[in-house]
Amino acid sequence: MEQRFVAKNALPLKDSFTTRWQAPSNIALVKYWGKTAPQLPKNASLSFTLSNAVTQTQVEFAPLENPSKSVSFTILFEGEEKPSFRPKLETFFANILPYQPFLTHYQLAITSQNTFPHSSGIASSASSMAALAACLVDLEAQLSSLTEENKINKISFLARLGSGSACRSTQGPLMAWGTHTAIANASDLWAVPVSDIHPVFTDYCDTILLIDKGQKKVSSTLGHKLMHQHPYAEQRFAKANAHLSELLPILQQGNFEAFISIVEKEALHLHAMMMTSDPYFILMQPNTLSVINNIWAFRKETSIPVCFTLDAGANVHVLYPNEFDAQLKQFIEGELLQYCENRQCVHDKVGTGIKKY
Ligand code: DP6
Repeated sequence: MEQRFVAKNALPLKDSFTTRWQAPSNIALVKYWGKTAPQLPKNASLSFTLSNAVTQTQVEFAPLENPSKSVSFTILFEGEEKPSFRPKLETFFANILPYQPFLTHYQLAITSQNTFPHSSGIASSASSMAALAACLVDLEAQLSSLTEENKINKISFLARLGSGSACRSTQGPLMAWGTHTAIANASDLWAVPVSDIHPVFTDYCDTILLIDKGQKKVSSTLGHKLMHQHPYAEQRFAKANAHLSELLPILQQGNFEAFISIVEKEALHLHAMMMTSDPYFILMQPNTLSVINNIWAFRKETSIPVCFTLDAGANVHVLYPNEFDAQLKQFIEGELLQYCENRQCVHDKVGTGIKKY
């Protein structure tokens, strides 16, 4: 229990309070894969915060005459009631209640929507948990005094308890989560922005190719669990931390070649963990590999520093500096969209995190 995050003297309000926050998705360059309770990462991770792929969440907090035992809430997602969302939210609220005990004094009406297709493989749990956490901390700020630093760290801290990677969606453009010798203020409990970045990485582009929009066959949660018995777990955690150490100076210098090498290795190491766990599984699809091969051929032919990364699914994130936007759009349209479900992709860019909307 982290005493410093327990809300103090937060007396309930008399009137309803409504707040709206949006949070983006993020894409990890160094991957988080493996955790211990309560949602603590086995290695440090690093991600680009995105800007167009966002979840927008409104919460109306209506005071209750008699406090309930757990958090009472309703959830409308894109205009529809979603009973399937309740278990994850119930677990989330149970996890955060010790830190925000005042929540039992309210009925929460949560309404939420994404600017990208749900279950498209774009990390909707990251953006949705970060947006919800921002609403909850906004209420807390009405009840007790919180500095800006306390607020942003608490949002990240609560978001982490909903979904690990969500803690990295709060700020941008680059976020680190997990203690690491090279990042003095890094923590396992919340994510922090990485400063001292070459300007080229502050407006990097990420086009997300939607290869397979179906529900994931193996959830990230199960994938993380399989790292407990994994034969290569310790090597993987050490390698991820080493990749992060290598990446920091590369991000400062703007060295594309070195950046590409680490980012692509990280994506393939993540999927190698899936293929070598017990039970083993493969989330890449034949079209994932076709896209990767096309990116490699295009990079060789043009010397444009474009690379790919993957999260826990078949979709491919195509990463490139903004100055090559026109060439990349043409390449993606002409060569890569044929591998996407209904030729769908989401053009995104690096962004700055949560905001009120
Ligand atoms: C492959 O954050 O979705 O995207 O903590 O169980 O909610 P939970 O898992 P989640 O895992 C993300 C895994 C990843 C890599 C990453 O984002 O670092």
